[in-house]
Amino acid sequence: MQIIDGKKVSAQVKEEVKNQTLELIEKHGITPGLAVVIVGNDSASRVYVNNKKKACEAVGFKSEEYALPEQTTQEELLSLVKTLNEKADINGILVQLPLPKHLDDKAVIEAINPEKDVDAFHAVNVGKIMLGEYDFLPCTPAGVMEMLHSYDISVSGKNCVVIGRSNIVGKPMAMLLLHENGTVTICHSRTKNLAEVCSHADILVAAVGKPKFVTADMVKEGAVVIDVGMDRDENGKLCGDVDFENVKDKCSFITPVPGGVGPMTIATLMKNTLKAAKLQNNIFD
Ligand code: GUN
Repeated sequence: MQIIDGKKVSAQVKEEVKNQTLELIEKHGITPGLAVVIVGNDSASRVYVNNKKKACEAVGFKSEEYALPEQTTQEELLSLVKTLNEKADINGILVQLPLPKHLDDKAVIEAINPEKDVDAFHAVNVGKIMLGEYDFLPCTPAGVMEMLHSYDISVSGKNCVVIGRSNIVGKPMAMLLLHENGTVTICHSRTKNLAEVCSHADILVAAVGKPKFVTADMVKEGAVVIDVGMDRDENGKLCGDVDFENVKDKCSFITPVPGGVGPMTIATLMKNTLKAAKLQNNIFD
C-alpha cells in the first residue's frame, strides 16, 4: 500500500506555476491576478480562502480578497462580479461556495466572465469539459487526475466508481475519468447496492461529504482509493469520506485527509489562473 502524498505533488505543480509566472512577468510584464470573493462567516470557507491567498503569494500572483458580510444582497454580489469582470489586472474570479442561503449561486456563477472562471463552474466551461475541448479544468477533479498521473496510475480500461454527483466534484470527476478511457459509474443516494458497486472499483473516488462513509467491505483488494471528503468525525476531528485506518491495507494506493486531494485543488486553481492570464493576453505557449 502506498499513500499518495498530495502535498508533495501539489508543491511540484506550484513550483512549475511559479517558474512560468516568473517568465510571464519577465517576458511580458504580466502578473496573474486572482480575486477571491467570500460572503458571510462559514469557517471552512475562511480556511479555504486563506489557503488560496497563501498559494497565490507563493507562486507570485497578485491576489485580492473581497470579504462581504452575510447580509450582502444578490444585486451587490452581482455588481461586484461585474466590476471584477471588467478589471484588467484580475484574470481569475473565484466566488467561494457555499453562499448564504438567500443568494442564488447559479446566477452568480453565470455572471462570471467564462474567461475568468478559474473554477470552471460556468455553463460554458462545463459544456466545454463535456466536449473535451476545455481551457480550464475543474480544480478538484483535475487535482485528482494530476495525482494519478504523478503516481503512474493508469485509468484506461479500469472500473472507476465515483460516489457523489455534485456539479463541483462528482459529475466533472466522472467526465475526466471517461476522457482517459475509464469505465465510469456514478453512485449517489438512490443507488441500489452501493457497497457492492463500489466493491468492483479499480479506482474508487469518494465525494459524498459523509465522514468515514467508505468502509473496508466496499473496497476491492488492490484498489486505488481517492478521498475527496473534508468531514469531521464524532470527536470533531478532521477526516475524509473514507474510513482510512480500516481501508488502507486493502488498497494499492490511497489518499489521506488532510494532505491528499485538498492541496491538489489549490494547485489546479493556480494552474488555471496562470492559463487565464496567458489566454487573456493572447499568449499561447
Ligand atoms: N467550495 C468548495 N470547493 C470549492 C471550489 O473548488 N471552488 C469554490 N469556489 N468553492 C468551493
